[in-house]
Amino acid sequence: MPIKRKRTDASGEAVLKGKPIGASRSEMAEVVLPAVTNLLGKLLGGHAMHLVDVVAAMAASRHANSYVVTASVDYIDFRNPINLGELVILKSQVNRVFHTSMEVGVKVFSENALTGERKHATTAYVTFVALDAVTRKPKPVPPLILKTAEEKRRWREAGERRKTRLAMRYKKQKSRD
Ligand SMILES: CC(C)(COP(=O)(O)OP(=O)(O)OC[C@H]1O[C@@H](n2cnc3c(N)ncnc32)[C@H](O)[C@@H]1OP(=O)(O)O)[C@@H](O)C(=O)NCCC(=O)NCCS
Repeated sequence: MPIKRKRTDASGEAVLKGKPIGASRSEMAEVVLPAVTNLLGKLLGGHAMHLVDVVAAMAASRHANSYVVTASVDYIDFRNPINLGELVILKSQVNRVFHTSMEVGVKVFSENALTGERKHATTAYVTFVALDAVTRKPKPVPPLILKTAEEKRRWREAGERRKTRLAMRYKKQKSRD
């Protein structure tokens, strides 16, 4: 029987098969209950951030088919409050894969189930690193297959954001040394 060998690149690393963005696109929703609202009956920012992290991790781990950890969360602002009793709907997708890391974009909406009105509440970008199940060290992530002009635009913009992110990371590290 012929021996099946893994395809490798010049550095000996396995060449991973690309996956389309749609294969890992994720969505979740929950009703805003009193336990997660402030005194004005608006969704707590901290709870919104938790949901952003969870739905982003879904897309990242589905794409990488591995454990992932949050490496960084970009600047996040809240454009519209989400009220008690409304639905909070979160959509995530991998925007770009680098080597062991990937950027996931998350859009958060509020929806009033009685009127059907939907509002964009926030957008966030979260970077995850895939970890090997045994060594727990960063491991390469399969490349993305881009299909639409929108996906290509997000991919380009993710590259710009990564430059800023890594510049901040190393600046902070230097100031600690
Ligand atoms: C994220 C983590 C795995 C990176 O490990 P590391 O030893 O610094 O690894 P490296 O320097 O080799 O970086 C690995 C990848 O992470 C990326 N990375 C690390 N820190 C980053 C940051 N702040 N922003 C964006 N990307 C980052 C690197 O660019 C690299 O990506 P690439 O392979 O695609 O080029 C490690 O810092 C960690 O485990 N952090 C804690 C994660 C955690 O507990 N998260 C939960 C929330 S607290």
